[in-house]
Amino acid sequence: MHRNQNSDIMICLSGLVGFLLVLTTEARVGNSSELKFCSETEQCLLFDLICKTEEYEVRHYDSVKWVSTNETSFFMEFAAMKAFRRLYEYITGANDQGKKIEMTAPVLVKMPDKNFWQMGVYTMSFLLPAEYQINPPKPY
Ligand SMILES: *[C@@H]1O[C@H](CO)[C@@H](O)[C@H](O)[C@H]1NC(C)=O
Ligand SMILES: *[C@@H]1O[C@H](CO)[C@@H](O)[C@H](O)[C@H]1NC(C)=O
Repeated sequence: MHRNQNSDIMICLSGLVGFLLVLTTEARVGNSSELKFCSETEQCLLFDLICKTEEYEVRHYDSVKWVSTNETSFFMEFAAMKAFRRLYEYITGANDQGKKIEMTAPVLVKMPDKNFWQMGVYTMSFLLPAEYQINPPKPY
């Protein structure tokens, strides 16, 4: 058992060293065919696999740009519905370049730290596709 854990750590470290040698500054959004679990959209948030055991994976995600909106509500379901509609409008043309932007994965919802009887600010984010990472259209 102990020996196994040690060899997992060794594999992780050598993966990390290998990764640092090829470090890129490029945002990693791209063709979802690179990820077997990402099949619903053409582009997904990609990562570099540092190492993997039977129980876990260590991944490195580069920083990427998202389009986000806030909605204040008591309930996640209600906030998510309104926020989704707003972001959907942005990607279907409600932006200063009139661009139609493809849906990507994942969609994130940041949950507020609150008690159930309080309102909270929910933040929903869509990942911008690779071609919009550098110069995203402004919302309006
Ligand atoms: C993604 O990769 C697949 C298989 O390599 C290819 O058929 C498809 O055209 C690619 N899509 C994009 C958007 O590059
Ligand atoms: C959205 O909410 C977060 C957390 O409350 C806050 O930090 C951020 O400034 C808000 N963004 C906008 C555009 O209001």
